[in-house]
Amino acid sequence: MGSSDNRSWKGDRRQRERRGGERRTGADRRVVDRGRPEGDRRTTSDRRVADRRRGRERRSDAAWEAIPLEHASTVAFDDAALVAAAVDAREFAHAQFSKFKVGAALETDTGVVVTGCNVENATYGLTMCAERVALFKALSQGKDLLFTRIAVVADTDDPTPPCGPCRQLLWEYCGDIEVVLANLSEVKRRIRLSQLLPLPFDVRLLE
Ligand code: THU
Repeated sequence: MGSSDNRSWKGDRRQRERRGGERRTGADRRVVDRGRPEGDRRTTSDRRVADRRRGRERRSDAAWEAIPLEHASTVAFDDAALVAAAVDAREFAHAQFSKFKVGAALETDTGVVVTGCNVENATYGLTMCAERVALFKALSQGKDLLFTRIAVVADTDDPTPPCGPCRQLLWEYCGDIEVVLANLSEVKRRIRLSQLLPLPFDVRLLE
């Protein structure tokens, strides 16, 4: 599968941008919405789901119950646009040792997307995965962010899921988000983080 295959995502995204008007698309959006956006259009139920994911409520079991799929996505971004952002980010991967380029796109509940790519170095062990780059970028750009989905893209036939450390970090900072696994031409799998990390260690056990 060559890099030209990503044209399908990009083409799709451009079409959506043309059609979508206000829809936010593209790689590496800056986090501009802090807290509630003006004219928050979410339903009470959506907001409750999002609220469960943050702050002190994280400490109760209820906060980590699986969230129905219909609440996992926002209307602002569909899979194709989120994946397209991850495909774009993958182009910046520093994968000079493994040659395994990965892109990630993390979506907030306000529709902002923050991207990441893997960054390797000569000691190998300091490698940072695309997912954590995206997460750390987002966390460093806004307070009290709520996350809804992450797309992970690699040029593989089988889906490339987040590694163990990434699962842990995503769980602690994002909660039970939806994980969209794609290659350069199609979404291969959608899965909840709680399925990737059953029986997690988190702050609840520290009390
Ligand atoms: N990698 C990621 O960035 N994300 C994943 O989900 C799996 C692995 C990177 C780390 C390393 O740079 C390369 O892929 C090979 O393991």
